[in-house]
Amino acid sequence: MNTMRNITFLAAAACVALASTALPASAQQSSSDEKALIAKGEYIARAGDCVACHTGPGGKPFAGGLALHSAVGTIVSTNITPDKQFGIGNYTEAQFSAAVRDGIRGDGAHLYPAMPYTAYAKVSDADIHALYTYFMKAVEPVAAPTEPTALIFPFNMRFGLGLWNKAFAGAGAFKPNPQASAEINRGAYLVEGLGHCGSCHTPRGFAMQEEGMDASNAAFLTGGELEGWPVPSLRGPTKATKGFASWTQAEIVDYLGTGRNAHAAVGGEMKPAVERSLAYLNDADLNAIASYLKSIAQSGPTPPAVPEKVRATTDKLTAAKDLTLGERLYLDNCGACHFAGGQGAARVFPALDGASIVNADNPNGLIATILGGAQTPSTDRSPSVLPMPGFGYRLTDKEVASLATFLRSGWSNQAGPVSADQVAAMRAKLPPQPVPGIQIEDKPAKGQTAEAVHASH
Ligand code: HEC
Ligand code: HEC
Ligand code: HEC
Repeated sequence: MNTMRNITFLAAAACVALASTALPASAQQSSSDEKALIAKGEYIARAGDCVACHTGPGGKPFAGGLALHSAVGTIVSTNITPDKQFGIGNYTEAQFSAAVRDGIRGDGAHLYPAMPYTAYAKVSDADIHALYTYFMKAVEPVAAPTEPTALIFPFNMRFGLGLWNKAFAGAGAFKPNPQASAEINRGAYLVEGLGHCGSCHTPRGFAMQEEGMDASNAAFLTGGELEGWPVPSLRGPTKATKGFASWTQAEIVDYLGTGRNAHAAVGGEMKPAVERSLAYLNDADLNAIASYLKSIAQSGPTPPAVPEKVRATTDKLTAAKDLTLGERLYLDNCGACHFAGGQGAARVFPALDGASIVNADNPNGLIATILGGAQTPSTDRSPSVLPMPGFGYRLTDKEVASLATFLRSGWSNQAGPVSADQVAAMRAKLPPQPVPGIQIEDKPAKGQTAEAVHASH
């Protein structure tokens, strides 16, 4: 045993000796250390989804120029490529850390909290070091300015943000929970920090601050609204019988890594979050996120079991007699893919019975999906794109309202009715939807309003 170890040791020593005669061992070591550090930094940039906000429409990665709409006006993201004139090429690691974790720019000015530094405050020193190395050594510099952010008074006064930070910035560095497993703590680190899930999933208070930066606050991750689209709660039971609260660990991992699972498919701003960020995380990290989310679930009244109501809707649609307008529109337009039971087909057609998007108090996500359609993201784990066509070109506002009202009360669903005015408001916000066979420039072709198309059917 001992001799074996000695022989292995001697062999290893010989290898090191040989290697060092070929190339100085230190140089060889440092270049492979740096490669590993850059790879780690790239992974962290993915987990933090830096590219999402720092890339303009059609622009180069990280070159900035994306306009972010906020309560105080439009804030333009900046160039964070290592270009010395227009980017962050002159940032020291300490300045980079101050920008990412404290919201303080290289020149000392405060950043607007559209940059999620209140969450990134939890990123570790080691991860900041890797992130900095990646940006400085591996991101391509882009010598292009971005449009400066021009807010109106008093929001253009960046010093005011110092007071905002004093009042609302989180408790700083990540504090592991000594009672929780290493896996749950890793998940907490990713969710509360790099993943900044709370920036969309936590309701905002009167000064646009997130109500809680970790699970010690009951409002943390309880959902909200993003540009009108409902963001579901990740904390506890909701009205949605097949929403997040009912998912297994494996189903959560599947949703985050591929944008689809046995029940649901991603829509709204969660789709780019999966496509650009979460799909790149390894299985261990996705499992850590799922374990952590399960560990902070709050208990509350679970939705009542309603098999009779589910059966009543399914039976009526199957018999296809005495249908309401909403029921008939469902059979004609949706049933082929989502089926009479509203259960869809696992990982292909999401369930409409019990879905979060159908049962949300705010129906805008549902209305937008019916009008504009949807597509699952393409990821390495699930490359196929499954499209749902938009129906905006052939259903009137009143028809979409009747259909949505039926969906929100059919099967086990129990959400309020939708009005034609709500549909009209959403239609006005969406880009024009293509009518199959008709070319659309930037406006619907003359006469091709939903009403006109409908009348011609
Ligand atoms: C949700 C959007 C968003 C995400 C995600 C985001 N940023 Fe930002 N970031 C911004 C905005 C907006 C600004 C400019 C704010 C301002 O002008 O006050 C900014 C500013 C910065 C700055 C200051 C640059 C300068 O000199 O103006 C740095 C550095 C930075 N971000 C790095 C990062 C890194 C690294 C990540 C990923 C870990 C990241 N950002 C993720 C929105 C974002
Ligand atoms: C940019 C905003 C944004 C960010 C960041 C974000 N989400 Fe989401 N998330 C959404 C929206 C919007 C939905 C609703 C999707 C839909 O309607 O199909 C959603 C849905 C979900 C769902 C499905 C819930 C259900 O009941 O259907 C899960 C799970 C989820 N997000 C987890 C996360 C996790 C974990 C993170 C952080 C790693 C995260 N999200 C970050 C916006 C976001
Ligand atoms: C050709 C098949 C097909 C038809 C027809 C169809 N859908 Fe879909 N639907 C899909 C697919 C595929 C998705 C997943 C896309 C995504 O959300 O990423 C989807 C997603 C949805 C979602 C989002 C579900 C979630 O979990 O976020 C809703 C709501 C929805 N469909 C409602 C309808 C309604 C209402 C109709 C009829 C007006 C309809 N669909 C017609 C295939 C279809």
